[in-house]
Amino acid sequence: MSSQPYETITVERRGNENRVAVITINRPEKRNALTIKTRAEGAAALDELRAENSVRVVVFTGAGDKAFIAGADISEFTNETAITQREVMLGRSLFTAVDTFPKPVIAMINGYCLGGGCELALACDIRIASETASFGQPEINLGIIPGGGGTQRLTHLIGEGKAMEMILTGDIIDAKTAYTLGLVNTVYPAAELEAKTMELANRIAEKSPVALAMAKEAVKTASRANLDEGLRREIDLFAMCFSSEDKTEGVSAFLEKRKPQFKGR
Ligand code: COA
Repeated sequence: MSSQPYETITVERRGNENRVAVITINRPEKRNALTIKTRAEGAAALDELRAENSVRVVVFTGAGDKAFIAGADISEFTNETAITQREVMLGRSLFTAVDTFPKPVIAMINGYCLGGGCELALACDIRIASETASFGQPEINLGIIPGGGGTQRLTHLIGEGKAMEMILTGDIIDAKTAYTLGLVNTVYPAAELEAKTMELANRIAEKSPVALAMAKEAVKTASRANLDEGLRREIDLFAMCFSSEDKTEGVSAFLEKRKPQFKGR
């Protein structure tokens, strides 16, 4: 089921009880390169899904079998000045919208994952790749640098040395190497990618939405705050779970030896 009439993305509700929303960047003829419009549509779709209580997990992927996202649409760079490009990047950011989305977001990476595509994957909470996927921050080859969070999130994820190498060389690495670096969580044969990702998404979608949101915020805090601030924030978020019906249900279900039914309250 597609909801709004987006032009460059599709949004489907899938999985058990339609709890998993799949956002597909739908420009396969351009290797799903991200235009300004595509980024705006992605952020609008997240606004829509944020308000839908039935949706508990979001999956981002790319249409076709060649690309997840081959970066920002380079054709849009030709007329940009420093001032206009700064405005574009400071405006509503898809990367920030993913990062701060209160539900888990999984990148299902089915091919080229380059530049802004890699940055979108980095903003997601979990990255699952097909064996045919490849990764890179090739901006340096255009005489620019990553501007969608790549220099920061990649460095946090894989460490300064390897991030520096990827960003300074612009080299493309394969999925196996990306796995070795910790850039992706798991790699599957291409034919299994969708089923395995949906299985993971469905499994997470069964958890308490309240606890998922608290857990995501707590883990994200680890790369932003110092240890004392992070530990303090964790206690607040942990305590907040105790005000939820889901916590009462989760504890009761364990003691009654049954499966919990979480409502997100
Ligand atoms: N921006 C705009 N157009 C892009 C694009 C991007 N980032 N990536 C691919 N395309 C377009 C190509 O220009 C081509 O368009 P055309 O058919 O109108 O000529 C079409 O997508 C197919 O690309 P092509 O290069 O023929 O496909 P391929 O499968 O041989 O190679 C890539 C795929 C991804 C390796 C190659 O297109 C590429 O290097 N893209 C740029 C990657 C990049 O630098 N990203 C960072 C941007 S900051």
